[in-house]
Amino acid sequence: MSEKKSIMDYETVALDDEKNALVIIDQTKLPGKMELLELTKQEDIWNAIYLLQVRGAPAIGVAAAIGIYLAAREIKADTWEEFYPQFTRAREYLDSARPTAVNLSWALNRMDGVCQANREKPIEEIVRMLHDAAVEIRNEDIWVCKSIGEYGLSLVKPGNGLLTHCNAGKLATVKYGTATAPMYLGQERGYNFRIYVDETRPLLQGARLTAFELSESGFDVTVICDNMSATVMKNGWVDAVFVGCDRVAANGDTANKIGTSVVATVAKRYNVPVYVCAPTSTIDLGTPTGDDIEIEQRSAQEVTEMWYRKRMAPAGVKVFNPSFDVTDNDLITGIITEYGIAKAPYTESLKEIFSKKEAVKHK
Ligand code: MRU
Repeated sequence: MSEKKSIMDYETVALDDEKNALVIIDQTKLPGKMELLELTKQEDIWNAIYLLQVRGAPAIGVAAAIGIYLAAREIKADTWEEFYPQFTRAREYLDSARPTAVNLSWALNRMDGVCQANREKPIEEIVRMLHDAAVEIRNEDIWVCKSIGEYGLSLVKPGNGLLTHCNAGKLATVKYGTATAPMYLGQERGYNFRIYVDETRPLLQGARLTAFELSESGFDVTVICDNMSATVMKNGWVDAVFVGCDRVAANGDTANKIGTSVVATVAKRYNVPVYVCAPTSTIDLGTPTGDDIEIEQRSAQEVTEMWYRKRMAPAGVKVFNPSFDVTDNDLITGIITEYGIAKAPYTESLKEIFSKKEAVKHK
């Protein structure tokens, strides 16, 4: 008899070369239903990103890289002059799906770089190189998260209580996750963490996704409402907060799921360290501060109706629904990247992280 598959057996985001399709887990159906989507058209990939069927900064980047490769395959062109404007239109279109997670434009720009660097080559070959670049972006994400996990694990001890917000887990990346990477690696080494998961209103990424993947993986998980973090921290149950991010500005201000800055503010009050787990693909040195980060606004219906049997807020009431907030850099104890841990002053330390990245690249 075949064993029931767990969420860990599925790939969050992958390229199926036989079907020429982007394959994703439809995260809007979790945890109730495990459904894979096979997407081939740019419009469907745009929608999947916008609707959060695929979500989380690194996973969005990988989906976009695969998406632009699939779009490039469909372009009918014999010359670069015919090809490139169509490629650019598709790239800009995919880039418009969500504004805050910089991984989306990071991945698309990287694909654009591959395209431009090979402009002298036949179109067929450019498309082949785009294929390889998309696969490389996907595969890179695995070691990036693992490395973040190792650095993160060095900051905690067996038996610790860890709190996380939103889903920066396997479902937001290719494997391991970012904020969950120290948890998964610790679990492999018998750390027995206690994990507190904020439910994460309004879309419940914590309750639906993080609690799901961590429970399936055998962790000791406790879901709390977003307004309970002060209680668990005051009780002394939390030794560290690990969160992901959608864009880190040059000064360390960090955009992540709405509510992250509340958690960080409370953590400071109770002397709990806050670690932002950030692949360098999520660090945007071109954005000076958090004030320069565009925050996605989403529909009022997510707040007033989505999870209720009947609408909860009075008809016609005003709703404010920013999808992300910015945690000020002084609330962040460290930014954990795949090249090491950056500490304040971040304007200096983040630059050093990128110098290290360059040095490794040219070794
Ligand atoms: O709106 P979402 O679900 O895409 O938001 C996701 C987050 O805020 C994550 O914490 C972030 O993307 C980091 S994922 C490793």
